[in-house]
Amino acid sequence: MFIINYNAAMSSIVKRAIMHRIHVDDLKVGMNILSCDKAWLKLPFFGGSVKSINDITTLKNYGVRYVFIKKEDVEIDNFGESEGELDTKSINDTLLREAKQRDVGEFAPTIEEVEYLQRIHSFAQKATKNMFLDVRSGKTADSETAKFIVNSFVDSCFKKPALTASLTRLKSFDDYTFTHSINVSVLNISLGKKLGMDSDELKIIGLGGLFHDIGKMMIPDNVLNKPGKLTDSEYELIKKHVEYGYDIVKQYKWFPEAAYKCVLQHHERSDGAGYPEGLKDHEITKYGKISAIVDVYDAITSDRIYHKGMIPSKAMKLLFGWSGTHFNKILVKFFVDILGIYPVGTLVLLDTGELAIVFETNKKDPTRPVVMVITDCEKRKCEPYLFDLESYNVVTNIAYKSIICPLNDKKYGINTNETIDRFLTSSYFEV
Ligand SMILES: [Fe+2]
Repeated sequence: MFIINYNAAMSSIVKRAIMHRIHVDDLKVGMNILSCDKAWLKLPFFGGSVKSINDITTLKNYGVRYVFIKKEDVEIDNFGESEGELDTKSINDTLLREAKQRDVGEFAPTIEEVEYLQRIHSFAQKATKNMFLDVRSGKTADSETAKFIVNSFVDSCFKKPALTASLTRLKSFDDYTFTHSINVSVLNISLGKKLGMDSDELKIIGLGGLFHDIGKMMIPDNVLNKPGKLTDSEYELIKKHVEYGYDIVKQYKWFPEAAYKCVLQHHERSDGAGYPEGLKDHEITKYGKISAIVDVYDAITSDRIYHKGMIPSKAMKLLFGWSGTHFNKILVKFFVDILGIYPVGTLVLLDTGELAIVFETNKKDPTRPVVMVITDCEKRKCEPYLFDLESYNVVTNIAYKSIICPLNDKKYGINTNETIDRFLTSSYFEV
């Protein structure tokens, strides 16, 4: 259903907005409705951003024929570039403002659902590793395994979109290439769904994501995982993974032709600075553009031999900084929307296994608020205490605790606001 908040992020990115009338059949997920040919009071919402195909169906069911949208939204379909200056400083404020208006309970899962998806994720990691090692030894990648993995992700993305995307925060340092392939597949699907792709198309872009770096299996390990700086010739060799990957997937009859572009174009850049062909924005397909954004985001947020993974909010700022040059601006905006920030009072699962409630947002980094921890790692109730998620181990430079995902508080009978009030009252009397 529509969320009443106006999409503030888009308004800060695009300065010029002109209203445009389109038929409801031409409406796409992500477009911002300013008005329509029916009185809003007679509809179950008051306009705003189209979140899913269901929203469009609802509009049609209520007899809406024409809607007025912002002019730049017309360009979403061909991913043309929007106008206006980027204000990277306001990104965090925008995310926080949107978070306050978001009803997390609507989409938040239960721990059982989180655990189920974690199992799928870890199965996918092992299966992908085996599949990729088969390719390295000259065998064919197993089509059934690949399809099973991608179908599971598409399925879970329809059931629990926010959780499915947030599982990519579980990074694995040892098996970077395989975990990265899984994450690119999941995030490709998440971004594709946000753009309104149907499940058949999501399977294509998911397979493309899973195999986007398969060509790296043809690169010697000592070059691929070299800790130091690459020589020019080593870098040129690594760049060849794109063409090697294409040569591999085109041999597979079961691999959809449309997904070739994820493999071939994930290192192309909108300004023509990418490889292998140096294509410009209008020459890169949407699958190539999506895979490029997702690939870079996952790479810079992962720990590698030569760098520490960046926190998501920092990575988002970098992506915004690169949009318009390296990446398509509108797609970057949609991608940042997927990652989600948590409002005060949200029940969250920490990577320690503890449950906590978001207590105070963090303007500097919205992904690391102050939380009130309410259970131990085994989910047993404990004396609540406040913990600043920004704190980290100064020796390892790693955060002590991080949020994995929001949880549905109603399903656990936890009234988060009451819990915060009780905590504040008892603290007051203690003082
Ligand atoms: Fe790559």
